[in-house]
Amino acid sequence: MSDSTKTPEGKTGYYQRHIFFCLNDRTNGEESCAHHGAEDAFARCKAAVKAAGLAGPGKVRVNKAGCLDRCAGGPIAVVYPEGTWYTYVDASDIDEIVESHLKNGQVVERLLTPPEVGR
Ligand code: FES
Repeated sequence: MSDSTKTPEGKTGYYQRHIFFCLNDRTNGEESCAHHGAEDAFARCKAAVKAAGLAGPGKVRVNKAGCLDRCAGGPIAVVYPEGTWYTYVDASDIDEIVESHLKNGQVVERLLTPPEVGR
């Protein structure tokens, strides 16, 4: 197995990094990530990862997720294996996560979800 399929800790994995976007869309009047541009952010991230040549085994996978139970910080995305939680606002935030974290392994500190934020 090549080095490209190893996590930063040296473990082997099918993907080097995996980002999940909460796309939960509540219809009961409560807030959810889908009310704050999550679908557009997911699509932008997927396209940017592909355009950068980062998509595929040994590289990056962009996935949809349901509620990640940190709704108060939404819209939410999380990157593994680091377990880095992001609260993004707009397309430029997504571009920065792709370029900095998914491509170069550098956490985007300004977009981190505060640790105490839950549902
Ligand atoms: S609705 Fe997105 S984390 Fe719960």
